[in-house]
Amino acid sequence: MTTFAIRQYGDPVLRQVTKVIEEIDGRVAKLAEDMIETMYEAPGVGLAANQVGVQRRMFVYDVGDGPMVIVNPTIVESTGEWTYQEGCLSVPGLSWPIVRPGSVHLTGYDLDGNELSIEADEFVGRVFQHELDHLDGILLVERLDEDQRREAKAILRARALEPLTGDPDGLHTLGEDL
Ligand code: NI
Repeated sequence: MTTFAIRQYGDPVLRQVTKVIEEIDGRVAKLAEDMIETMYEAPGVGLAANQVGVQRRMFVYDVGDGPMVIVNPTIVESTGEWTYQEGCLSVPGLSWPIVRPGSVHLTGYDLDGNELSIEADEFVGRVFQHELDHLDGILLVERLDEDQRREAKAILRARALEPLTGDPDGLHTLGEDL
C-alpha cells in the first residue's frame, strides 16, 4: 500500500473541479485503497481524490463503521441547518463552526459499480458536503462567514510566510479533519 502527501491550502489542485470517473476499474480501486491508507495515517475521517492530486470525482471516508468509497457522488437534496466545528486535512490545525444543511441525500457508485443512495444527517451529512465541496474545488474557508474568513485569511497568510513547525496537533481545537 502507498500513502500520498496531502495537498495543502494554496495548492492550485485544490481549486480545480474534478472530472467524472468514466470506468471503475482496478486503477480506481487501487487509488481508493491508497486514499484510505492516507486518510488513516493523517488521521482524518474523509479525503477527496484531488487532495492527493488526482482530478477525479471520488472520496473516501470512515465515520467509525469502516472505510467507504463513493465514486461520482452527487448531492441530490439537502435540507435543514446544522452547525459543526469543521476542520480539513488540507488546512491543518484550524477549524471553525460552519453552518450547512443538516441532512443530505447523496447518490453515487461503489467500487463494484453498484448505485448508491444514502440519506445522511448531522456528522455524516457534513462529511459528504465537505468532500463534495473538495471535488468542486471549494475549500472550507469559502464556507466561513465574513468575520471568520477575515481571521482565517490572516492566519493562513501568516502561515505562508512562516510555515508550521513542530506538532500541528497542538493547534487542533474541536472537530474532525475532513
Ligand atoms: Ni477537507
